[in-house]
Amino acid sequence: MLEEYLNRIIHGDCLDVLHQLPDACIDLVVTSPPYNLKNSTGNGMKDGRGGKWANAALIKGYENYDDCMPVEEYARWQHEVLLELVRVIKDDGAIFYNHKWRVQDGLIQDRRDIVYDVPLRQIIIWKRKGGINFNAGYFLPTYEVIYLIAKKDFKLAPHCNSYGDVWEIMQEQRNDHPAPFPVELIDRIVSSTTAQIVLDPFMGSGTTAVVAAGLGRDFIGIEKSAKYCESANARLEKNKINPEVAKFHQLDLFQLTPPPVKRKKTKQIYDYGTQSLFQG
Ligand SMILES: C[S@@+](CC[C@H](N)C(=O)[O-])C[C@H]1O[C@@H](n2cnc3c(N)ncnc32)[C@H](O)[C@@H]1O
Repeated sequence: MLEEYLNRIIHGDCLDVLHQLPDACIDLVVTSPPYNLKNSTGNGMKDGRGGKWANAALIKGYENYDDCMPVEEYARWQHEVLLELVRVIKDDGAIFYNHKWRVQDGLIQDRRDIVYDVPLRQIIIWKRKGGINFNAGYFLPTYEVIYLIAKKDFKLAPHCNSYGDVWEIMQEQRNDHPAPFPVELIDRIVSSTTAQIVLDPFMGSGTTAVVAAGLGRDFIGIEKSAKYCESANARLEKNKINPEVAKFHQLDLFQLTPPPVKRKKTKQIYDYGTQSLFQG
């Protein structure tokens, strides 16, 4: 039954599509929802005319979603999405849910109103580069968070537990979508797991699909905008010839030649006994 969803970007509402999926059928979810940025107590983007930040990529929201819900309604929606995601992952499955903490009315909004009653295991800091701060009351925010929500049997791929929990990765710059993931970030997540089926319910420009396909995994994408679905599909086609993940996995090209065996240097032991052979 899942076959019909595999390796497709489904044009639709995430909750409608998630409701159709059976329990425990997905290995990994990687996603970044709309952040509700246009509902803001500051006036960075507040009134839609730009406020102080006239060139912000999200000034008009997304193609057919304005990113401006009442705060409680937004939190209720996102929490419902998270509960559905927990339902569809397997007992060894995990969700990497990217969000942003921000200051609202002088106090940190840390998304505790969304991420509760789910098995939260770790918070990864994604340190981005630069940014703009119009408020003299706090330092320039430079990170986003990635909640690792994991069911009890979830384990990382071998050796990946040696990565730290602060990842310094530059935001994406060559993508027309207003809020794309950097390929490197998703590559780090997917290749740190052995997941075969990867779901992104807010697929946007298709980054999760492109990375999953590039790493030989299956994907399921959901996206509300027909325009973004179309560009994600076009991007997937291009990736069949020129995979974007190749940049991070160049070694794969050479895997046909086995890597040189590293021999342990043995300490030289002088055998004084044999010396006598040469001593005449
Ligand atoms: C932050 S963006 C995701 C960007 C994506 N990670 C990428 O790399 O391009 C959020 C996406 O969610 C989509 N979206 C908004 N509401 C949605 C809904 N109810 N169901 C599915 N997608 C939705 C928006 O159109 C937008 O493309």
